[in-house]
Amino acid sequence: MIKIAPSILAADFANLERDIFRVRDADYLHVDVMDGLFVPNISIGLPVVESVRKVTAMPLDVHLMIDRPVRYVERFCKAGADIVTVHVEADSEENTRKALELIHSQGRRAGVVLKPKTPAEAALPFLERCDLVLVMTVEPGFGGQRFMEDMMPKLRQLREWIDSRKPDCELEVDGGIDPLTCKTVIANGANVLVAGSSVYKADNIPDRIRELRG
Ligand code: DX5
Ligand code: ZN
Repeated sequence: MIKIAPSILAADFANLERDIFRVRDADYLHVDVMDGLFVPNISIGLPVVESVRKVTAMPLDVHLMIDRPVRYVERFCKAGADIVTVHVEADSEENTRKALELIHSQGRRAGVVLKPKTPAEAALPFLERCDLVLVMTVEPGFGGQRFMEDMMPKLRQLREWIDSRKPDCELEVDGGIDPLTCKTVIANGANVLVAGSSVYKADNIPDRIRELRG
């Protein structure tokens, strides 16, 4: 089954509870954390995750776009994250491994994220320890960007490795997912689709979420 993870980056932060309720038919709630260093933007952090946790039972899929995430993963777990993903580009291999371990030790699901220029191979050292691999289909930092179709060979390669080495690992995509591009990523092996603008800009959000399932 295809899962949809609406990104609250496209929500109205002054009406966050309302906007979370609007996407209640989806599977995960995607939370984009940015530090202004790893990406050229600053979004939300720990206190917001804590508050969001109180108003929804949806699994929180926390995407950390921060430098050296190993410093913060435990705190995001304690704040209520169900899934925490860290970028492989954000620290050494050793620290990324450590971050995944810390997330697991909190009883949460852990994953790695690859930026567009990062090859599929970069996920391999971590695959056995991942519950999820996230392939960026835009440069991280901002919502509303154009989908990068040239990420599809990477997605297919990761689907192949996941199927043969870690079949219960989920394969997620993030960036530019709409009713058209959802079909492309599903055909190339993704099973979790993050969508910000295309969900929140829709006239009928439940219909849009259904449409994105392909
Ligand atoms: C970008 C974020 C995305 C973003 C996606 O750095 O990781 O989750 O919210 O937004 P759309 O769906 O508008 O491309
Ligand atoms: Zn994201």
